[in-house]
Amino acid sequence: MEMFDIKALRKCLNTRFIGRELQYWPEVDSTNAMARRLAAEWAVEGTVVVAEAQSKGRGRAGKPWYSPPGLNLYLSVILHPAVEVQKAALLTLISSLAIADAIDAEGGQAQVKWPNDVLLADRKVAGVLAELQALGERVETLVLGIGVNMNVSQDSLDQALGKTAWGATSLKEVLGREIDRVAFAVTLLESLERRYDRFRASGRKAIVQEWKAQSCLGQRARIIERGRSIEGITEDIDESGCLLVRLDDGSLLHVSEGEILPLPHR
Ligand code: BTN
Repeated sequence: MEMFDIKALRKCLNTRFIGRELQYWPEVDSTNAMARRLAAEWAVEGTVVVAEAQSKGRGRAGKPWYSPPGLNLYLSVILHPAVEVQKAALLTLISSLAIADAIDAEGGQAQVKWPNDVLLADRKVAGVLAELQALGERVETLVLGIGVNMNVSQDSLDQALGKTAWGATSLKEVLGREIDRVAFAVTLLESLERRYDRFRASGRKAIVQEWKAQSCLGQRARIIERGRSIEGITEDIDESGCLLVRLDDGSLLHVSEGEILPLPHR
């Protein structure tokens, strides 16, 4: 099994703060849990935790994240964005855009799916678990946990995940070749820094526009929100990162949390 070459990542990464402080673990419970432990004792902005494998990799909505060694990318980035809590959801969208940039650099055509998934050939290849710590109305720490299925085989994924509502796949399965995890992580972290800088310089508008341009909005979908299930067309996102869904009666539903499952158009 080829291990992640953390030395090469340190050497190649051309960033000002993201990944300047870089921790590598052959195995952790979860890079997000580790990043939160580090942040609790104060970690500098841009600290990155990378793991070869996770014994308790976490997905959104309390789901596990399949994290075998030697194949994929599992990392968490610690940010201290000093924005209001309402702006954090929007800020987290930069992580799926950065993943999409790294996939595009490998010759793929990635799409982002609300809230923070990345699709390739209509199947999920990456996800983001964002966890924040607030002090009053301000975000103190935002941990962006990024998982990318890179070289794992379809068979292993199917065995581990069973039949998922939104089929999961890997970059290798779609692009037809092994992907260099270090080169991918370099592009991803450099793009994340660029996008984060832009967010701080020019605010929300740019993110919303760029996210929309790369998204798979406009689909008929089932929205699972706070235990209820509603159908509609995913129409837009607003300036706080909420998804706007056009329901069949013509009204517009604002969804701030939930899962979106695609349905055939009627
Ligand atoms: C999802 O789509 O459900 C989010 C998946 C996030 C997985 C990553 S892997 C690195 C980081 N550590 C975790 O425990 N989870 C995130």
